[in-house]
Amino acid sequence: MKLALISDIHGNRAALEAVLADIEARDVARIINLGDCLSGPLDAVGTAEILMSLNLPTVLGNHDRQLLDRSAEEMGLWEAWIINDLQDHQINWLKNFQRIVTYENTLFCHGTPDSDEDMWLHTEGPQNRMVNRDLSGIIERLKGTSAALIGCGHTHTPALVRLPSGPTIVNPGSVGVPAFADTRADPPFIHQMGSPDARYAIVEKVNDTWCANFISVPYDPAEMAALARTKGAEDWARALETGWLA
Ligand SMILES: [Fe+2]
Repeated sequence: MKLALISDIHGNRAALEAVLADIEARDVARIINLGDCLSGPLDAVGTAEILMSLNLPTVLGNHDRQLLDRSAEEMGLWEAWIINDLQDHQINWLKNFQRIVTYENTLFCHGTPDSDEDMWLHTEGPQNRMVNRDLSGIIERLKGTSAALIGCGHTHTPALVRLPSGPTIVNPGSVGVPAFADTRADPPFIHQMGSPDARYAIVEKVNDTWCANFISVPYDPAEMAALARTKGAEDWARALETGWLA
């Protein structure tokens, strides 16, 4: 049974449409959304309407949570861009998301089971660049989880780790944001995939082992980049067009 893992759409409706069209052709039994659906200077409303119509099992991302539990004055920039565009029924839809989604022997979360902001497979390395987390740090975050397959998002970085103790952990990467800079860190925490493609993964058990097919879907980012520019987010526009920040 193939499962499609999508994550970190961040309001990129064009990338979501491209990924959904790609999934359509691949005989997938279920799509699971690992969160951070709307926040960013793009098309939060259009993205919400598509996702609401699909009614996917969805994990609550840190940015979804921030849309729910912060006042407009206190929320982050990525939420401030869209909070006034969203209607009550779209905000209320976010309340259905779960911190953890489980099926049989599988578990899905945004960051880790304990935190929607923790990075499971990655960490900040020298100069605040994202690097792979070491084995002990990954195992520590299992916290007794017995699932054979774990899906997580949040870092926008596709990865598969199979632990010596058994579980396979998959991060499908980001559907909508191929590069970003968090300027709250000094130096800024920078992530860039190096291509503008929308990323997702299909996972499947083959001979009793969970495997992942990491897929990059080219699409036309022009409309989303133009939206970012109307909100003054030139760095987002460049990232969407190229997958690089500068
Ligand atoms: Fe996130």
